[in-house]
Amino acid sequence: MPAGENARRIATLMFWMVGSALVIWLLVMVLAVLATTNWKRAWRLPRLNTWVASAGVLLPTVLLGALLGYSLPLLRNDEPAPGLRIEVTGERWWWRVRYAGPGGMPVELANEIRLPVGVTAEFLLSSPEIIHSFWIPSLAGKVDMIPGRVNRLHITPTHTGSFRGVCAEFCGSAHAQMAFAVEVMEPDAFSQWLAAQAAPAVPEGHGAGERAFAANGCGGCHAIRGSEHRGSIGPDLTHVGSRLTIAAGARSNEIPELHRWLAATETIKPGVRMPSYSMLPETELAALAAWLGTLE
Ligand code: CUA
Repeated sequence: MPAGENARRIATLMFWMVGSALVIWLLVMVLAVLATTNWKRAWRLPRLNTWVASAGVLLPTVLLGALLGYSLPLLRNDEPAPGLRIEVTGERWWWRVRYAGPGGMPVELANEIRLPVGVTAEFLLSSPEIIHSFWIPSLAGKVDMIPGRVNRLHITPTHTGSFRGVCAEFCGSAHAQMAFAVEVMEPDAFSQWLAAQAAPAVPEGHGAGERAFAANGCGGCHAIRGSEHRGSIGPDLTHVGSRLTIAAGARSNEIPELHRWLAATETIKPGVRMPSYSMLPETELAALAAWLGTLE
């Protein structure tokens, strides 16, 4: 069921298109059966040319014209002025998501989008290198993410709930594992969540996991706000422990899954740019996964 204005328009359009096509198909089938079972009489119909002209030319022109006239205004993106702006970039193969936090400072996260219900969000969609397509079927139609361009999409969620977003354009080996979680929340809960995301990470303790993170150069690709790790190639991990999934929806966000992911990125997600760290001792991987889990 549609849970956004944009998706509701698409569902209405589809209802009318499919409904009309069904009615026309049934009409044609009835006429075809009548004509073929009683073809001698059909052939002797008075004013055969008028029949052909009206049912074969006039009727389709009027019907298709009416459907076109009905559908074109629905394609306009005329949602209210946005109360929220979110930049989403299609990476290989994950989603870089950037909000403007309290005070306007950018808040970056990955593979997760939260929206306040009833507020129009403007998405600025782009990609640094290859074409992806941003699609949350329950909320809106799909929009391409094209290198060198910023495409805009307005989404007004009408229901709270959890939804799934996907990449809808083949973009390489891990295209099918390029998903993201979407949560539509009450506005108050959304503000609290955004404020928490804007805050720096507060890890529980600084033990073996953090040492492993620093020693293996994880900070060269990943940022953890509030620490010396400032890499920007891979997903921002400031609050990775509170995310709903890891590896762009490839696995659930649990410590054992994080451990498996660190040890076998390329097996779980073919073509992924993050190398596997299977050469590390199991104890070090376990400590790393446990420490990442505390970054909530
Ligand atoms: Cu990104 Cu398909």
